[in-house]
Amino acid sequence: MAHLLDDRDLNGDTRLDLLDATWATKHEGALHDARPLSGKHLAVVMAKPSLRTRVSFTVAIRDLGGDVVEVGAHNTKLGKGEEMEEWAGVLGRMVQGIVARVHAQAELEALAAHSGVPVINALSDRLHPCQGLADAFTAWEAARLAGQPDSASARAYYGRPHRWAYLGDGNNVAHSLLLTAADLGVVLTLACPPGHEPDATIVQAARAHHPAGADGIRVVHEAGSAVAGAELVYTDTWISMGQESTRDAATIRARFAPYRVDGAVMAAAAPGAIFMHCLPAQPGDEVTAQVLRGPASRVLDQAENRLWTSKTILAHHCFAP
Ligand code: CP
Ligand code: NVA
Repeated sequence: MAHLLDDRDLNGDTRLDLLDATWATKHEGALHDARPLSGKHLAVVMAKPSLRTRVSFTVAIRDLGGDVVEVGAHNTKLGKGEEMEEWAGVLGRMVQGIVARVHAQAELEALAAHSGVPVINALSDRLHPCQGLADAFTAWEAARLAGQPDSASARAYYGRPHRWAYLGDGNNVAHSLLLTAADLGVVLTLACPPGHEPDATIVQAARAHHPAGADGIRVVHEAGSAVAGAELVYTDTWISMGQESTRDAATIRARFAPYRVDGAVMAAAAPGAIFMHCLPAQPGDEVTAQVLRGPASRVLDQAENRLWTSKTILAHHCFAP
């Protein structure tokens, strides 16, 4: 059974094949008439708000012939009168797959263990692997649409050197970008305020897997040096869902201000560099409105690509023939 709990579930050929399949699905009509989920019901479980992930998976599941049952945190008793063993076990008797946005990564592991059906991580406190795949696709797609050489396939594109930079909080999205970059051999520099670096075990795993080792994954505190030569500048919110009560907005704004992506940051990146953000964004905080909505921004393509990658995750990974 193929789950997608962690970015590393896609390592190697799996990720490259999914990227190529996503191009074929978005640009060449592949999967248009395919109904691999015909007769299947999937639960979309959201313990936190979601626009992109919820809508992309709902549309993808239905386009692929399946049906969706939405399960919200507010209308079941998971953790408030029902334990995971029974909750997941019951769900697994009724649906053929689960897309789940939860708080702790451990909840996903338990959901997979006790449901007996494929589980897709729709964001946890630790990882956002569906986002990581869409991000890798968006970076390659932008290059291919711009006519860059050696970009006719994901293998060709990621077979040559690339540099990405991430500015801001070392959070779930940063973790997935780290693991994705490591697997694709992209040199990634993260610039984070002291105390907000990514989890050390994820950094260590990314360095161990990266073909360039520790030189492939750098974590620094100075934003300016991180973006030099970067083809992609990425950022995410400074206060993630669930941190609203533990992160004081004024304190965070003061601490993170040097990591805001503005016109000067983009000008310091490689010529033609693109900007990406998983969204939702807080214009004026982690990115200026001018960059978010400016010519370098690919955020709407990136969001749309959540739909195309959701389709390929379902059709070619979790429910592959
Ligand atoms: N990027 C992303 O996962 O967005 P949602 O929180 O809206 O699903
Ligand atoms: N880091 C953000 C990502 C939202 C898609 C959060 O967890 O809220």
